[in-house]
Amino acid sequence: MTIIAETDRLIIRTWIPQEDAEQALKIYSDPEVTRFLPNSKATDLEQIVNTLERWVKIAAQLNNGTGLWAMVLKETGEIVGTILLVPLKGNDGQFTEDYEIGWHLKKSAWGKGYATEAAKVILNYGFNVLKLREIYSIVNQDNTASIKVTQRLGMIPIGSTTKYYNMKLELFKLEAPPQ
Ligand SMILES: CC(C)(COP(=O)(O)OP(=O)(O)OC[C@H]1O[C@@H](n2cnc3c(N)ncnc32)[C@H](O)[C@@H]1OP(=O)(O)O)[C@@H](O)C(=O)NCCC(=O)NCCS
Repeated sequence: MTIIAETDRLIIRTWIPQEDAEQALKIYSDPEVTRFLPNSKATDLEQIVNTLERWVKIAAQLNNGTGLWAMVLKETGEIVGTILLVPLKGNDGQFTEDYEIGWHLKKSAWGKGYATEAAKVILNYGFNVLKLREIYSIVNQDNTASIKVTQRLGMIPIGSTTKYYNMKLELFKLEAPPQ
């Protein structure tokens, strides 16, 4: 397990598939959470272990400091969700050179600012440690809560795009601060 970053309330760390499976299942078996995340739906432990293993494998393959990570509440040790920084996949299923940040929270953790708090530290990590020049976010136009996160982060709306994941999505962008 590797700790990627820390905030006032959260530890952001790599997933431990077997150990975290039960907590992750509580997040990804909730249809309200997966409404816009068709690839992360899980109905049983085996399925969520597979998802977490896939995520760990993606980070190993990319091998460039990006990945999909657990957000853990410092105070209780509870896993409240996922924060990710990975290359966007093009319509051919291959990774592009554009990086996206994304966030998923369990329902009971909505409305507390955790997604914004985690995203801020991961954007800093992306810009200052990984030296990315810009970071995107892609959101379904009906996902108001997620669009609000992009706005709290100061991301700029670029409009809709069909370049990624064979879907029509709203694109948001943040550029690295000047050196
Ligand atoms: C998208 C998602 C992560 C947003 O969650 P969220 O809790 O609304 O976002 P944040 O963690 O940034 O919290 C902000 C909210 O907490 C409130 N808040 C409470 N305490 C806060 C604090 N200390 N700091 C900041 N905000 C706080 C804010 O006022 C805001 O509420 P509002 O939108 O009603 O004004 C969540 O809806 C989700 O997991 N959805 C399902 C998965 C998904 O679709 N992900 C996105 C795919 S693109």
